[in-house]
Amino acid sequence: MITLKGYQLFPHLPRIRTDTPGFLLECAQRYGDWVHFDVGVTQAFFINHPDAVRQVLQENNRNYTKDTIQYRTLALITGQGLLTADGEPWLQHRRLIQPAFARSRLVSLDDVVMGVVDRMLVRWDAWAKQNQIVDVDHEMLEIALEVVGLALFGLDLSREAPQLVRAVLTALDYVIYRAQNLVVPPLSWPTPRNRAFKRALFELDQAVEAILTSHQVRDEGEETLLDLLVRAEQAGQLTRQHVRDELVTMIVAGHETVATALTWTWYLLAHHPEVESALITEIDTVLGGRPPGREDLPKLTFTAQVFAEALRLYPPAWLITRRARGADTISGYEIPAGALIIISPYVLHRHPAFWEDAEAFRPERFDERQARAYPRFAYIPFGGGPRLCIGNQFALVEAQLILSRVLQRYRLAIAGAGPVRAEPLVTLRPRGGMPMRLIPR
Ligand code: HEM
Repeated sequence: MITLKGYQLFPHLPRIRTDTPGFLLECAQRYGDWVHFDVGVTQAFFINHPDAVRQVLQENNRNYTKDTIQYRTLALITGQGLLTADGEPWLQHRRLIQPAFARSRLVSLDDVVMGVVDRMLVRWDAWAKQNQIVDVDHEMLEIALEVVGLALFGLDLSREAPQLVRAVLTALDYVIYRAQNLVVPPLSWPTPRNRAFKRALFELDQAVEAILTSHQVRDEGEETLLDLLVRAEQAGQLTRQHVRDELVTMIVAGHETVATALTWTWYLLAHHPEVESALITEIDTVLGGRPPGREDLPKLTFTAQVFAEALRLYPPAWLITRRARGADTISGYEIPAGALIIISPYVLHRHPAFWEDAEAFRPERFDERQARAYPRFAYIPFGGGPRLCIGNQFALVEAQLILSRVLQRYRLAIAGAGPVRAEPLVTLRPRGGMPMRLIPR
């Protein structure tokens, strides 16, 4: 393990701030699987081996908390929702909420997704006729939010979607600003940035209030996550604040991640026509023009592989951090109590020992035979262990449905000049959106 002291890191500060994934990747390439950042009071360990990651996220997960800048700043938005909570309260809420994400509940996701995508395609048909360039990033954000609304809350959020998407992005921008700057003006000061953040938070809170007000107990149909939360509040298991925090968590964690991953998938497909052709062949063969349904998903294997490979190259959650509660020994290295653990799916997914020609987009890495060869913790777009993403199956099903439905009608071509840069915000976002041309099939 190499130790880098504060003064050695100092010259790299601008890069660390603007291109953290690139900096971490370079560290791993130069120094190997273990890098110790010794910055005075902060002892940080950047670990980049599946065995070490497994110990932190799974085997000894109880020793690691989310008491890190990353999650403390995110909690300014999501409060004590599932993503940011810790310990016993987290466990209780996870047990309560888990049933809403059971496989059986995902059955009706295809109707929801088809409805939302088909409405988007009506919009696209008009734009395609005018040869209009579309910001696919924005489109994916809106439809992913609508899917969350219908699937988890039983509500049509299409009217509110543009404003909500903006509020979430503004709030997340502030989180990044707070995480990247050690000294920031207190939130009570009326700086433009503070005011924008507070307005975004207010809009999110208002949206949640409206969701709760319009909620009606339904006698028939499947219980949604919203039904479950409201029932838990009535039973005294959750407070109103808990319900608010979980709803905001689902809005934030449930749409931007999926949307960003889909946007990068479109980008990669546009750059790899041979993969796109193979994908279209699969979709046409399996579906023959009819809308995809739940029963088709096991047959749309290449579609799943394409998305898995996009998640490898552009994992929306590119950074996962933990704080060591007590001392631990990982792969023979001593980790002191209080140390910060840094895990980067972005870097791990490029580890040369596990991923040959790691920068290449090759969906066949995830065919049945090859996928079995990778260690479980070499590929962690959804994290791992008890804190594994609760929406991972939801996201995979949603993505398979959206990709196949859209590709039945359109291919997407890059419209901007030059490569789109990945900007490491809370998720790995395309800088400047993703302008694309719609090419009717
Ligand atoms: C491609 C899409 C997605 C990606 C890449 C993703 C990624 C992740 C990752 C890496 C974590 C673990 C973070 C950590 O261990 O520190 C996580 C947790 C979480 N995700 Fe996702 N996610 C996605 C979609 C979703 C969706 C669709 C939902 C909800 C509808 C969701 C809700 C959550 C929640 C609530 C947690 C916290 C779980 C817990 O700690 O109990 N995510 N996600």
